[in-house]
Amino acid sequence: MLLEPPFEGACLYPKKPEPPRRRWYNRKIFFIPVSLLATILITAVVLSAVLGSRSTHKASVLTANMCDGFVRYENLDIEGNDISHVDGVLDYATCCSICQAIYGCFAFTYSPSSQQCSPKISISSGKNSTGDAITGYNPNMCGGFVRKDNWDIPGNDLLPSPVQQPDYASCCSQCQATYGCIAFTYSPSSQKCSLKTSMGNVILNIPADAQWKQNGTTVAGGNERGNATNQFDRPYGLFIDNDQTMVIGDCSNGRVMQWKMGDTDGKVVAGGNGKENRLDQLNCPIDVLIDKETDSLIICDRDNNRRVVRWSRRNDTAQGEILIDNIDCYGLVMDDQKYLYVSQTEEKDEVRRYQIGDKNGTLVAGGNGQGVSLNQLNFPSYIFVDQEQTVYVSDTDNHRVIKWNKGATEGIVVAGGEGQGNALTRLSHPHGLFVDTLGTIYVADSSNNRVMRWSKGAKQGTVIVGGNGLGARENQFNYPVGLFFDRYGNLYVVDCWNHRVQRFSIE
Ligand SMILES: *[C@@H]1O[C@H](CO)[C@@H](O)[C@H](O)[C@H]1NC(C)=O
Ligand SMILES: *[C@@H]1O[C@H](CO)[C@@H](O)[C@H](O)[C@H]1NC(C)=O
Ligand SMILES: *[C@@H]1O[C@H](CO)[C@@H](O)[C@H](O)[C@H]1NC(C)=O
Ligand SMILES: *[C@@H]1O[C@H](CO)[C@@H](O)[C@H](O)[C@H]1NC(C)=O
Ligand SMILES: *[C@@H]1O[C@H](CO)[C@@H](O)[C@H](O)[C@H]1NC(C)=O
Repeated sequence: MLLEPPFEGACLYPKKPEPPRRRWYNRKIFFIPVSLLATILITAVVLSAVLGSRSTHKASVLTANMCDGFVRYENLDIEGNDISHVDGVLDYATCCSICQAIYGCFAFTYSPSSQQCSPKISISSGKNSTGDAITGYNPNMCGGFVRKDNWDIPGNDLLPSPVQQPDYASCCSQCQATYGCIAFTYSPSSQKCSLKTSMGNVILNIPADAQWKQNGTTVAGGNERGNATNQFDRPYGLFIDNDQTMVIGDCSNGRVMQWKMGDTDGKVVAGGNGKENRLDQLNCPIDVLIDKETDSLIICDRDNNRRVVRWSRRNDTAQGEILIDNIDCYGLVMDDQKYLYVSQTEEKDEVRRYQIGDKNGTLVAGGNGQGVSLNQLNFPSYIFVDQEQTVYVSDTDNHRVIKWNKGATEGIVVAGGEGQGNALTRLSHPHGLFVDTLGTIYVADSSNNRVMRWSKGAKQGTVIVGGNGLGARENQFNYPVGLFFDRYGNLYVVDCWNHRVQRFSIE
């Protein structure tokens, strides 16, 4: 059976919280384990929300282990897979709960018109796969689960040092016992088991009508400017891992800080040894990301150091290694194929894509000198890349966000671009950037001290937080820069000159 989108009804299993990547569809998966199926179904929910904009029912932010807030938009079925019919169910969420309460249920069909809920606990059985897929599976257990060969999804291994395991089944069991494991790779020849708990960037589908609390909570810093571990000095870039660990580029302190939720103090995880150019030092880490595959930080060390460096997170590594040197880097982002994208300012005004180890990279945006034409950029700061490798750029001094489709020779303005200003049609020195699966743009409109949302194709944005003048109150910013969402849709903003990170809960 070839599963094709759109179909819906994935009820998220505990331990399977990760929204997956789209290319899973393209594989000929005839028989798939529950973990993979759940993953594919979740992808379908996300994708169908993209495709199904005509509908008033939308898949909302995926909450990993709960049915609350889970909404399907139509009665779409996978033929031949109904097991039971339960009448008189009132709503989607109840149907989802029923599914979660049934052992082996991996999906459900709900009909709004008839209010019928059909949990699915089987996708048929007894056939063998052909080609690159999997032979035999047991939907409810790992026993009997056999993969044909060392079938991998490139770039998605989480554990670089695979755990030694005797067979497929124990690898499967290990996956099931690991929080967040969505799939695994097992190599019969080397008997290696690699768990996958991440498919790269968190891809969120934030409902179009989502709102956030207007008052932020300080989750890091906020204790004046300084170099203690509960302080920042001009923090900039922010990255949040799936377990909600934050890493923050603490620029003027020359260090990267890590904060777990609820911490009152951060931990220095890179730099902090003075601001010169030794390998154990950072000058101004303006952006940082976590590369899960190598369990390392990738840092743009700006200003005097002009380099992109990598620091292992595995032990308290005392120094970084230079990945790219002599580069006026600013923003960093990694796509799901592990390409690193780096923006460059100071005359270059371009974004390049690198394979790790590659020093020169490939131009993907700008590169035609500093300017305001559609094929130019003027101080590209933070960047974002989506699943199609479309690059979104905060084109800071052009006061716009511009996107470059893969292979494009010029960009398309997707927010601002009408000159500096504070009208809803304008931006003023945009920085942090995030794009959800609907193509909605979230941007830190820095000089306007607000965060804006621009729906796909919109000619003007809306202010989602801030916009209450420059200040240090809960609903104000003093130059918001880095911006990130956690997978629940909560918004985090680095409030640079207030030396703090603010969290705005989704309502
Ligand atoms: C699947 O393949 C296995 C091994 O070749 C074989 O024993 C089994 O009968 C096959 N099952 C079906 C339904 O064809
Ligand atoms: C931290 O700040 C204090 C006070 O400004 C200063 O004396 C000290 O040298 C700083 N420490 C580091 C590691 O920069
Ligand atoms: C941890 O650090 C030690 C000493 O620097 C090094 O020998 C070892 O390989 C490191 N381990 C990992 C997993 O990076
Ligand atoms: C990288 O760029 C340098 C300088 O332009 C050039 O000499 C070198 O050949 C390039 N390397 C590759 C692999 O393209
Ligand atoms: C939100 O913050 C403003 C400004 O500090 C304050 O006046 C207001 O009472 C706060 N509202 C809530 C609900 O906390």
